Amino acid sequence: MLSDKVQAALNEQINMELTSWYNYLAMSAFCEHRNFRGCAQWLRMQSDEELGHAMKLYNFMQVRHCPVVLSAIASPVTQYESIPAVFKLALAQEEKVSASINALYELALNEKAFAEVVELQWFISEQVEEERTARAIVAKFELIKDDPSALLDMDRELGERRPEPEPGGAA
Ligand SMILES: [Fe+2]
Ligand SMILES: [Fe+2]
Repeated sequence: MLSDKVQAALNEQINMELTSWYNYLAMSAFCEHRNFRGCAQWLRMQSDEELGHAMKLYNFMQVRHCPVVLSAIASPVTQYESIPAVFKLALAQEEKVSASINALYELALNEKAFAEVVELQWFISEQVEEERTARAIVAKFELIKDDPSALLDMDRELGERRPEPEPGGAA
């Protein structure tokens, strides 16, 4: 049986993934409203991915016969300084999630929750990719600054994102 500490931390991680889902959705709505449809599309797909992460943990907890306890999701920020500022916040969010996953992994190791350690390895690799992608987008926006034609190109580029397969699929 999983320790209470590990159970609580897994439930908190589900909440964090759902918070990311909600934040990305709010970011997408902000971009859409300003006619940056490519940015909106990219962020909406990112929000879908976060829901996938939450569900991957949710399914895993059920397989492990561990009670899922859902809690309130905090309201997202809905006003941002600019489109580039949205992506800066996205990067900060990913860094926060990575720190949380790392702490969860350390806890699982200390508690000898080996199945959880294996499951969390997927999340550690995923965070490496998520941070890398967000960092690259932030760097491009920094180069672009206020150049309108480059901003439009960037919007088009982000709009080319297509959905990735569901992580782990159904339980
Ligand atoms: Fe995530
Ligand atoms: Fe993420």
